[in-house]
This record gives sequence, structure tokens and C-alpha cells, in this order.
Amino acid sequence: MASLLIYVVFFHILGAVIWIGGMIAVRFAVHPALQNISDDEVRLARTLEITGRLFALVLPFIILLIATGLYMAYIFGFRGHTDLSKIVHLKEAIWFIMALNYSAMVWLRFKAQSYYLAGNFMMAKNYLAPIAKYMLPVNIFLGLAAIYFGLILRGF
Ligand code: HEM
Repeated sequence: MASLLIYVVFFHILGAVIWIGGMIAVRFAVHPALQNISDDEVRLARTLEITGRLFALVLPFIILLIATGLYMAYIFGFRGHTDLSKIVHLKEAIWFIMALNYSAMVWLRFKAQSYYLAGNFMMAKNYLAPIAKYMLPVNIFLGLAAIYFGLILRGF
């Protein structure tokens, strides 16, 4: 059991690293660099490619996070209405909001891609804008909170 558990915790942490780390890298390193491309068509194409790759990369880790989280909560006996089980429910809620926000970003990107392919760059831009402006920062903040609450569960 202990040997399985080490992999469960490992993949839970790996999921957090890839999902939150991926969003931070794209929002604070890749996104500002993209703004230096003055050609609208090229900038939009690269933005669509980068967001598409990011969203595809993190999807398995989003699923891994909830699966490993639920497994740990079960194994460690975080049930009922103890303080720690409330934190598990808080983490479930955070994960759910992040997953909804992620789905909305995937949808916006899909709409932006359709407009881009139809040659309507203005609409493509309008659909992409909220992703960098609000949605990635919200998920980064919630992800950091989930990491913090994970450490509380660990016993800090
Ligand atoms: C965005 C989602 C999440 C992130 C980023 C995240 C991140 C983390 C991190 C970094 C830890 C610390 C691991 C350690 O020190 O051992 C942790 C622990 C934990 N997480 Fe999550 N977590 C997320 C979602 C969830 C969910 C949805 C659940 C429950 C359903 C959950 C349950 C747990 C449990 C039970 C622990 C304690 C592990 C231990 O005692 O070692 N997590 N989480």
C-alpha cells in the first residue's frame, strides 16, 4: 500500500506542477513575448497554437489531480465533518471551479480559431482576450490556493 501511495502523491504533485506551472509560464513568459509580434495574423496563429498545446497538455493532469486527490482523501480517512475533511471539500470545490474555467477557456479558444480560419481577426482577438486577462490569472490564483490547502492537509 505504501509503495502505491508514493506514486499517488507523486502524480498529485506532478499534476499541480504541470497545470499551475504551465499556466504561469504561458501567462507571464510566453504571452508578453507574443505581444511583440506586430503582424496580427502571425500573432493570432501562434497564440492559438500555444493555447491549444497548453490545454491539451494539462487535460490528463487535471483528471489525474481529482483521481489522486479523491484516492488520498479516502485512504487517509478524511471523512465526515472534521476540520481536515472540510479542507478536502474546499479543494474539491476549487478543483471544480478551475475545471469549469478551463472548459470555458477551451470553448473561447475554439470560437477564436473558427473566426481566425474565417479571416475575422478582430473577433478572434475578442474571444482570446479574456483568457490572458482574467481566466488564466483566476486559475493560477485558485491553483496556488489548492497547493496551500494541500500542505495544510499534509500537516503544516
Ligand atoms: C487544483 C487542484 C489541486 C492542486 C493544485 C493540489 C495540490 C496539492 C499539493 C501540492 C499537495 C501537497 C502534497 C504533499 O505535501 O504531500 C496536496 C495534498 C493533498 N491534496 Fe491536493 N491538490 C488539488 C486538488 C485536490 C483535490 C480535488 C483533492 C480531493 C478530492 C485533493 C486532496 C488532497 C489530499 C488528501 C492531500 C494530502 C496529501 C498528504 O497528506 O500527503 N487535492 N494537493
